[in-house]
Amino acid sequence: MSFPLLRKNGRIQIGKYDVQDIIEKYDSPLYIYDEATLREQCRKIKNIVDLPNFRVYYSAKANTNIKLLQIIRSEGLCVDAMSLGELQQEEIAGFTKDEILFLSNNVPPKALEIIIEKELPVCLDSLTQLELYFSLSPKKPAYIRLNIGTAQGHHTKVQTAGKVKFGIPIEQIEDAFTLAKKYKQKITGFMFHNGSLFLDDTIYLNTINDMLALAEQYHDIEYIDFGGGIGIPYNREQQEPFPLDSFSEKLTAKLNAWMAKTKRQPIFAIEPGRFIVAECGIALATVQSVKQNYGVNFIGTDLGFNMLIRPEFYDAYHEIIHTTKEGIFNEPMQIVGNICESGDYLGKDRYLPVTASQDILLIRDTGAYGFAMSSNYNSLLRCAELLVTTQGEIQLIRKRESLDQLLTNQIYS
Ligand code: LLP
Repeated sequence: MSFPLLRKNGRIQIGKYDVQDIIEKYDSPLYIYDEATLREQCRKIKNIVDLPNFRVYYSAKANTNIKLLQIIRSEGLCVDAMSLGELQQEEIAGFTKDEILFLSNNVPPKALEIIIEKELPVCLDSLTQLELYFSLSPKKPAYIRLNIGTAQGHHTKVQTAGKVKFGIPIEQIEDAFTLAKKYKQKITGFMFHNGSLFLDDTIYLNTINDMLALAEQYHDIEYIDFGGGIGIPYNREQQEPFPLDSFSEKLTAKLNAWMAKTKRQPIFAIEPGRFIVAECGIALATVQSVKQNYGVNFIGTDLGFNMLIRPEFYDAYHEIIHTTKEGIFNEPMQIVGNICESGDYLGKDRYLPVTASQDILLIRDTGAYGFAMSSNYNSLLRCAELLVTTQGEIQLIRKRESLDQLLTNQIYS
């Protein structure tokens, strides 16, 4: 399901309101999330395995807006945290220690001490960090992240198996257990994450098989986590969605067979981020210039890569829609932002209606890794975030930053 885009008299409506009125009230650019879509995605993913020992940990790195976290929690999902910052927001949203998994890499001792103090389950990503964890005398056993399987993902930057920095390679697994013995501690969980955004389930299911076969040999394992990565089709004309129904059947059958064979009932978990929040989010940008430079058409907006870096950073595709005009101008347009770099674009070679200054464009599927990856580059302000409630009302869920906030931590006289 994706953000409902309804047109009335040719103009996009957001909830009960015209897009222009929203920009006038809250300024441009903007991120807007649809509550009904978010809830629907939570339910879809939560129901893929109907077992009491199956858990979905929302991977909060995709979006940590506290209001969204509260909605996700109200749908019965757990959450992962990879920093004290994520943890703080999750705790404010109401997640308790039984609902949070701390899963990070290269964590400094001070941060790990705080996590141990809070008695959160922790998944460690290297033998060094595992030893550090054990040396701090935790009350909880350790989970470990294993680097197994075949890397997957929409870009090499987010493929996380094989010769990359993540996890403990399979040939070092016994070293991990030796460490546990040395500190009289235990390892009770295995986790893998092969990468982010795949729409085919073949490799994923193969790695799940490998993980289950491995866990069969280690009788202390009571937590088995298959990571995140389930994708969404950003380009709906060219991509098919992830086959959730057939994946659900296959996964359920596998887990049931494993439990019948081993007579064990571990917690099984997945950690999706993008699947839950990407499609409920849109960004709005206002056109500030239209020009042709040496035969190339540019539409310049106020949404730079400080607010949406995916197109520049990963060459990622996001659908771009004109909110108040229809039809198509027959020349390709380069849709760009307001940052001082040529790489600052939102979409290349797009066909849009004839566009003029102050028109409003909508960038689709930006709920995941949109605001979460924003910055103040060029001393631009981060924009506001809005929620469309299930009643179609609009709620401000994060204020636009102010110029004063840019000065907060600077020391000068
Ligand atoms: N678990 C772990 C350990 C992860 O590192 C990640 C994502 C996830 C779960 C959630 O993955 P997802 O279900 O969202 O694919 N900024 C990139 C994506 C980075 C993903 C990082 N790790 C993007 O915009 O495409």
